[in-house]
Amino acid sequence: MTVQPDIGSVRLPDLPHWEEIPDDLPAAIVEIKQALRARIQASGRSVEDVFAVIELRVHALVDDVLIARARGESVWPVIEYTDIANSTVTAEQLAYLRRRGCLVVRGHFDHDQARAWDRGIVDYVESNRFFENYRGPGDDFFASVGSTPEIYPIYWSPAQMQARQSDRTATVQRFLNHLWVSESSGVRWFDPDRDSLYPDRIRRRPQGAHSAGLGTHLDPGTLDLWMTRGYQQAFRHLFDGTVEAYDPWDAAHRTDGPQYPGSTMCSAFRTFQGWTALSDMDHDQGVLHTVPIPEAMGYLMLRPLLPDVDEDDMCGVTVNQVFPADGKHHALLLEALSGIPDVRAGDSVWWHCDMIHSVAPVRDQKGWGNVMYIPAAPWCPRNERYARSVLGAFLAGDSPSDFPEEHYERTWPNRFTVHDLNDTGRRGLGLTS
Ligand SMILES: [Fe+2]
Repeated sequence: MTVQPDIGSVRLPDLPHWEEIPDDLPAAIVEIKQALRARIQASGRSVEDVFAVIELRVHALVDDVLIARARGESVWPVIEYTDIANSTVTAEQLAYLRRRGCLVVRGHFDHDQARAWDRGIVDYVESNRFFENYRGPGDDFFASVGSTPEIYPIYWSPAQMQARQSDRTATVQRFLNHLWVSESSGVRWFDPDRDSLYPDRIRRRPQGAHSAGLGTHLDPGTLDLWMTRGYQQAFRHLFDGTVEAYDPWDAAHRTDGPQYPGSTMCSAFRTFQGWTALSDMDHDQGVLHTVPIPEAMGYLMLRPLLPDVDEDDMCGVTVNQVFPADGKHHALLLEALSGIPDVRAGDSVWWHCDMIHSVAPVRDQKGWGNVMYIPAAPWCPRNERYARSVLGAFLAGDSPSDFPEEHYERTWPNRFTVHDLNDTGRRGLGLTS
């Protein structure tokens, strides 16, 4: 058994950091890997020892998923919206949610409301001749075959804004945010009771569609996760000999730092990624999968430091590309990849912002596969900064600055307006505090 060092008495070497993308990426990767190893070793532990601690912890959670699956149990926690709203979620449900880091909220919205929003989106885009004017995918991340979009680069429809600013969404976001430690060391890292209304797109995948899906990846960042001061502090326990204290629900130092720019970036801090279903979807129709283990992030962060990875390689992570999780370096984690259960229009789906996820391929899809992407992005310095640019985009009908500059909605007369905002909407956009 390893004795944990008393690092209070040890002066650990500082880490180099790059607040902007380094000019020489391979050289910076070599430098940061050496520095991270030196810091771990100065704490009195080896990289292999620290990695083994995380591996053991994650291994037990992978086994837990595999056992649940073998028993035919749902791997994804499912909680009724009414239980969240009435504070009748049990301690057992909460513990399961915390263990898995993902959730289906049943009946987040009424089925009829979600179906009406789905029709409203069709009316919105058709009345503005979107399909006639569509210029093809603005980025290659979600590129689909042909010219009919699956991902609509539409942000300001009444349906989306009504869902974002609804009391029911605020209730679910508040519930999820409170799973995190939002305050520590006398700092309030974020406000769990106020959301910043992060605007994202819509997916409408028609029945009969063939889709290759999306491979296993993560969204929180790329090389900035190792190379910027903020993230180095956020992941401090992995690199200072106190790996046992690593807590994936600790928001300390996560809500201020910069992120390296890229075509798939998210400027906001999201506690959870999420979407709301606008159609009924069966579990085998090309749906979302996750590795339902928040602690796996510790594994992903330490894995590149092992000796079988080239010195200038971070297991394939680089800037301007999504963070990949692959069978070569992360085979243990991918064993736990688990899809959502059947969902109905009006249910919402959420997963911890650090978790590996993918979208399964589908052929000849049964029914529609329609979702509005609405995450939980609580108010914090980082999200307040981004909210300023979001407000400008909202008023002008622009694409938000995290997304390709497509700006389809600028001239659309029936988009959601500032007069349609309720109090939650105004607070989310920073118009009132
Ligand atoms: Fe993603």
